[in-house]
Amino acid sequence: MYKLVIEGGHKLEGEVYISGAKNAALPIMAASLLIEDDVIINNVPNLEDVKTLSQLLERLGKKVEFSDKRMVIRTVSEENVEAPYEITKKIRASIAVLGPLLAKRKKAKVSFPGGCAIGPRPVDLHIKGMRILGASVRVEHGYIIAEAQKLTGGLVNMLGTNGTSVVATENVMMAATLAEGTTVIDNAAMEPEVVDLANFLIKCGAKIKGHGTNTIVVEGVKNLKGCEYEIIPDRIEAGTFILAGMMTNGEVLVKNCEPNHLTEPIRVFSEMGASIQILSKDTVLVKGRERYEPVNVTTLPYPYFPTDLQAQLMAVLTKARGISIITEKIFQNRFMHAYEMNRLGADITIDGNSAIIKGVDKLYGAPVMASDLRGGAGLIIALLGAEGVGELLRVYHVDRGYEKIEDKLSKLGAKIKREKTDLI
Ligand code: EPZ
Repeated sequence: MYKLVIEGGHKLEGEVYISGAKNAALPIMAASLLIEDDVIINNVPNLEDVKTLSQLLERLGKKVEFSDKRMVIRTVSEENVEAPYEITKKIRASIAVLGPLLAKRKKAKVSFPGGCAIGPRPVDLHIKGMRILGASVRVEHGYIIAEAQKLTGGLVNMLGTNGTSVVATENVMMAATLAEGTTVIDNAAMEPEVVDLANFLIKCGAKIKGHGTNTIVVEGVKNLKGCEYEIIPDRIEAGTFILAGMMTNGEVLVKNCEPNHLTEPIRVFSEMGASIQILSKDTVLVKGRERYEPVNVTTLPYPYFPTDLQAQLMAVLTKARGISIITEKIFQNRFMHAYEMNRLGADITIDGNSAIIKGVDKLYGAPVMASDLRGGAGLIIALLGAEGVGELLRVYHVDRGYEKIEDKLSKLGAKIKREKTDLI
C-alpha cells in the first residue's frame, strides 16, 4: 500500500497539463465492443480505471495496446460475453459493457458493478433501457444476464428516483446504435462525456442527434466501422487543480483544459473571490488569495455544479470567511471526506444531504484516509492548505482517476511524496 506525505503551506505556482477525461475514455473504450474493426483512441489518461477496463476488454476478446496516451483496440474474438466479478468489482464503469455486448453479441453477462462507497449504485435504469430495446434481462447470482436476438428502437425515459443517469444514458445510446429503428432517450444525461461518446460513435458511422440535450435520438444502423478519435480534456481534473491553486493562494496556469465544460464551477470559484481568467480556448489562469468568501452550492447534473468536484470545493471552504453549505443531490453518501477534514481542524457538520462548513483560520496536517476517488482528491487539497506535515492513506482510490497526481503537484511546488506503508 502507498500513502502520500504532504507538507502544507506551499503556494502552487506554474503550469499544469490536464489529461484526457476518465469518464469519456471509459465509455468510449466500452463502445469498441460494438466495432470489429480497429479503433484508435488518443489522449487516453494513464489511470488505474483505464488499466482495469483494458483487462476486461481483453477478457472479452479484444487486444488492447496502450502507450503514451494512444490506445489501439483490435478484435481477436467475439465469443466471450461475460464480465467477471473479479474485474467489475474494481470499477463502476464496467457496467458500460452491457449495452455494447448485448447489441453486438446478442448476449451479455455482467457482474453487478462495484465502485466508490459513495452510496448505493443501482442499475435499474440500465436494465429498464435494455428491456425497452427488446432484451430479456434477468439478475442471477449477482450477474445481470441480458439476451436479444435483435434489438428494436424504443422510447427510454432515463428519469430515475434520483434524476438521470450518466452511464445508463451511455449504455442505452450505445445499444441503440445497432438496434432496428429509432430510439429516443428522454431525460438523457447532458454531461460533456456523454457528448464525447456520441461524437465517437458518429465518427464510427452511428446516427445520433440531440446529444448534449436532454433528448437523444438514435437511428439504428447495420454496423459501425473503426475510427481514430481524440478524448476531451478531464474537466474534473482541471477543476481539482484550480481548487488546489486557490487553496494555496497560488497562481496556476491550467493548460489543455476545456473552460466551456467548467462554466458553473468557475462562476462559483469567482464568487468565492478567486481570480479565474480564461486566457484561450484551452487555458485557464487561477490566482488565489488568503481567505475566500463562503458560498452555498448544490450538486446537480450538468451543466450545474458537478458532484465530482464537491469534496475538492469543501476542502477550500474549510478556511473561508464564514459559513458555507454544500448540498449533495446526486449520491447519498458522499461526505465521508468531511469527517477526515475535521481531523485536520475543519468545522464541518453533516445534516442529511447537506454539509455545513464553518470557516476556520487554519488546518493542521495529520494522517487522513481516502474512502473514494474524489474524496481523496479533496483531502489532498486540504493537506496542501494545512500547516505542517500530513499524510493521505489508501492512495489507490486517487490513482483510479488522477494520472501521476503527486508529479503534477510537485512540478507546481507542492511538497508531496509517495511512500510505502503497512497501514491499509
Ligand atoms: C457517472 O457515474 C460518473 N462515472 C461518476 O463519476 C459521476 O459522479 C456520476 O456519473 C454523476 O455525475 C462515470 O462516468 C464512469 P449516475 P454513474 O448513474 O453514471 C442514480 C468519478 O468520480 N442511478 O449518473 O454511475 C444513482 O444512484 C465518478 O469519476 C439510479 O437510480 O452515476 C445516482 O444517485 C464517481 N439508477 C444518480 O442516479 C441507475 O440505474 C446518478 O448516478 C443508475 C443511477
